[in-house]
Amino acid sequence: MKNFRSDNEAPVHPDILQAMVDANQGFSESYGYDVYSEQLTEQFQQLFGCWCEVLPLTTGTAANSIATALTTPPYGAIYCHPNSHINVDECGAPEFFSGGAKLITVTGDNGKIDIDRLNDRLENSGHHGEHESLPAAISLTQCTESGTVYSLAELKAIKKLADKYGLAVHMDGARFANALVTLGVNAAEATWQSGIDLLSFGATKNGAMMAEALVIFNPVYNKQIKRLRKRAGHLISKMRYVNCQLLAYLKNDLWLQLAHHANQQAQLFVKSVNQEVTLLYPVEANEVFCRLPLKQINSLEQQDFLFHRWPGQEGVIRLVFSFATKTEDTEQLIRAINNI
Ligand SMILES: Cc1ncc(COP(=O)(O)O)c(C=O)c1O
Repeated sequence: MKNFRSDNEAPVHPDILQAMVDANQGFSESYGYDVYSEQLTEQFQQLFGCWCEVLPLTTGTAANSIATALTTPPYGAIYCHPNSHINVDECGAPEFFSGGAKLITVTGDNGKIDIDRLNDRLENSGHHGEHESLPAAISLTQCTESGTVYSLAELKAIKKLADKYGLAVHMDGARFANALVTLGVNAAEATWQSGIDLLSFGATKNGAMMAEALVIFNPVYNKQIKRLRKRAGHLISKMRYVNCQLLAYLKNDLWLQLAHHANQQAQLFVKSVNQEVTLLYPVEANEVFCRLPLKQINSLEQQDFLFHRWPGQEGVIRLVFSFATKTEDTEQLIRAINNI
C-alpha cells in the first residue's frame, strides 16, 4: 500500500516518539506545570521573536474553537472560506465554543478568501442593526484546504481590512510548517508581522502524535485561555507528553525539514506527471488536487495506491504527501499514472 490519502495517516517521527520515551521518567507535575511547559513558551517566543502565549492542545479543532471563543462573542460573526475546516469539518465546534457565533463564508479562488468580496461583505454589514451578527473575526487557513498558500501581501491586505472594521485575524495553521517552507520567510513574518492575532499551530500532520498549540500574539485576546482549554476538555493531566512532542518538533528545525520533504514530494509529482492530469489548484505545499480519467483512477486503486476521491467531484482525487512519503513511492505513483 502506498498511502497518499492524508498526512494524518502518516506515522509519528522517531525523534518525537523518542522525546516521549525520554519524558517518561518517573513522576512529573501534572496539568501543564511540568518542566517542559516553561521551555515551550521560551521556544515559541524565540521562534516568533516576540511575546506570545502558548496553549498546548491535542487537536486542531480545539485550537480553532478556543480561538473563536477568544475573538468572537455569541452575537458575533467570523468570516471564513466556504471550504475552511472550521466551516465544514468541525461539526459546529467553533460556533459551540463561542456560545453561538455565526460563520459567514466568503468565496474565493484556490481556497483563499477573496479580498474584494470580503470587503463587500463587510461594507454591507450593519444594515440590519441588532438583527444581524456583529463582525468580529476573520479566520483563514494556511496552507489552505486547496493546498495553496497565502502570500504575505495577501495576509497584509486581509489585516488592513480587519483593522478598518476592528476584526481579529485568526490563522488555522494545521499545515503552517508547509506554508512557511513555501514562503521562505521566518515565523514572525508569516504571522504577527503580517497581522495574525492568533495562530492554530499544527504539528500532528507533520510528525507529531497528537500535539497542536494555540499561539496568541495579541494580548487583547489573551483572556482566560486556560479556563477555556479546561472547558474544552483539553487540559491534559499528563501534559508533559504533549509538550515534549512540540519541543522535539521544533528542535534543530525538525519541523521545517519534515515539511520541506513533504512539499518536495508534491513538486516531484507535479513536475513529472504527464499532461492527462489536470491540476485543480496551484500546487504550493504538500497537497495535490487533480482530475484524472475514471479509468486511471480505478487502475491506481487496483494497484493499491491509497488516496481520496474528492466528494461531490467525479474524477477528482486528492493526493497528500507527508514527511514520511518515500521518494520511491512517489516515483511509482508517477510511473503508474504516466504508463496507464
Ligand atoms: C485545515 C485543517 N485545520 C484543522 C485541522 C485539525 O483537525 P483535528 O481536529 O482533526 O486535529 C485539520 C485536520 O485535518 C485541517 O486539515
